[in-house]
Amino acid sequence: MKLLEDRILKDGNVLGEDILKVDSFLTHQVDFELMQAIGQVLSHVYREAGITKVVTIEASGIAPAVYTAQVLNVPMIFAKKHKNITMTEGILSADVYSFTKQVTSTVSIASHFLSADDKVLIVDDFLANGQAAKGLLEIIGQAGACVAGIGIVIEKSFQDGRQLLEEAGVSVTSLARIKEFKDGQIVFAEADA
Ligand code: G4P
Repeated sequence: MKLLEDRILKDGNVLGEDILKVDSFLTHQVDFELMQAIGQVLSHVYREAGITKVVTIEASGIAPAVYTAQVLNVPMIFAKKHKNITMTEGILSADVYSFTKQVTSTVSIASHFLSADDKVLIVDDFLANGQAAKGLLEIIGQAGACVAGIGIVIEKSFQDGRQLLEEAGVSVTSLARIKEFKDGQIVFAEADA
């Protein structure tokens, strides 16, 4: 997605060896026009897939997910990282290990929001090692729902996430794919859309 790649080049900052800071339009401040465009592209890719729900994980997946859900005209559900007092029963959950933070957290979705009739599109902001998406696959599997695909805003293709997800039999659509950070510069691989 050229618009996204151009924005990454303009406003993204490489931190250290393998982190891209995009907090001015995606992970902290959100550019709704760019998110709308992302929603248009992802929904177009999956328009014939019979999607009934879009699922993401808080916090930074929510913006691209909600704009995708709007175009598909289906609900967006975000997995929570902390149970709140209103989540009293029927919780689907999975442990997610973050290689970046080296912590395991439990992510949850109330079971009445997903059923065996659902066909889910997962959307997330980053694909690095794929652990967040793997946790979502587990939760969606617990509900007996099926996953039609995974839409990613920025994939770091030098990490293992895509391989892990494709080995699990799920198709991945990444709008920007970063092959490497060479001398602090961003080098893209060919994106999926
Ligand atoms: P994984 O889910 O692919 O295995 O990713 P990993 O454990 O490596 O990453 C943990 C968190 O860091 C995730 O967000 C992920 O989106 C984010 N992340 C990974 N690589 C980058 C990067 O290069 N740049 C930025 N900005 N974020 C990255 P999270 O902890 O769930 O945070 P949030 O969604 O609440 O903001």
